[in-house]
Amino acid sequence: MSTDIRDDTRAGFTELFGREPEGLWSAPGRVNLIGEHTDYNEGFVLPFAIDRRTVVAVGLRDDRVVRVASTIADDVVEIALSDLAPSVLSGWPAYPLGVVWAFSEFGADLSAVPGLDLFIDSDVPLGAGLSSSAAIESAVALALNDVWRLGLDRPTLARVGQRAENVAVGAPTGIMDQSASLLGRADHAVFLDCRTLESELVPLGLAEAELAILVIDTGVKHSHATGGYGERRAACERGAAVLGAASLRDVSVDDLPRAQELLDDVTFRRVRHVVTENQRVLDTVEVLQSGGGAAAIGDLLDASHRSMRDDFEISVPELDLAVETAVQAGALGARMTGGGFGGAAIALVRVGDLSRVQVAVDNAFGEHGFGQPDTFVVFASDGAARN
Ligand code: GLA
Repeated sequence: MSTDIRDDTRAGFTELFGREPEGLWSAPGRVNLIGEHTDYNEGFVLPFAIDRRTVVAVGLRDDRVVRVASTIADDVVEIALSDLAPSVLSGWPAYPLGVVWAFSEFGADLSAVPGLDLFIDSDVPLGAGLSSSAAIESAVALALNDVWRLGLDRPTLARVGQRAENVAVGAPTGIMDQSASLLGRADHAVFLDCRTLESELVPLGLAEAELAILVIDTGVKHSHATGGYGERRAACERGAAVLGAASLRDVSVDDLPRAQELLDDVTFRRVRHVVTENQRVLDTVEVLQSGGGAAAIGDLLDASHRSMRDDFEISVPELDLAVETAVQAGALGARMTGGGFGGAAIALVRVGDLSRVQVAVDNAFGEHGFGQPDTFVVFASDGAARN
């Protein structure tokens, strides 16, 4: 993380609130290497934390008021701790204040904690599918856990962030993003079992293999609080119910012929995506751990994208173009990342081929009359921390 953001956050806090903060906490956005729309189906995911972070400066108050401000909006929102409820939250403050509220859902006693001033800055691009929202939630969750001495562990803090997003923001998302943001480690991906919430760090070895992950942010904005995301989730739950499974985690590739007989075509394809995607996550982890290394996962990334494009139907023309062009220009594999309906694709690229792939994608977007994408390399980075 550049020291600029930390300096800017501290300066922003001091200017607005007229004193020094207690401290700074930060949390990263994430890229999902593979395992899309599997988290809320109790399946497997393999994201990593990236070198783009949200920073929150926190100061304790001697009353029971919370004030929150950020560089993304001009307003300072002020609310008494006793008035905090999902129904009174909206807009960007629902992320940080939703976290404050969600702590009480996890057994934290907030009846005597002091009020707070919060100032937030971030260099995670908004709405790009890189989990700028989870970065805010995770930074705030870790900060409050520290300053209020609540003693929750990181997997539970991830659930606090998810609860804020589900209830206060109203997006029916899973546990992946907050887990990546809180559990990430430099040069590793987080292999998470979303049923048990057990996780394992898997070395990526990208630098040694002279590989890089290139993000292609299409600039197509999306929101998971409306529309397609919730519909996909409902289709998965419907499919599991018809198959007599508690969740699609309990459906295997071998069960797919039976699923095809029992389900309508659309529901079947939604189910097939999740079931095969879970298997692709397991296969990717095996390849990474068995010495095949990152250079050998390209086909799995490509297959994941096809499955999201054709079966789950969450891609958009800009994402498909980014993926196809990157692979044609020499990427070892590529796929859209995140919830879909816009946002970013990732491409696994040999370092020596990076500029060729970038130029090819830029040109292709120009030829199709799409706005220029923002392309940049991301590095697997450490998760949330006090700094
Ligand atoms: C969004 C959600 C995650 C996950 C992905 C899709 O990022 O926040 O919980 O469902 O979409 O894999």
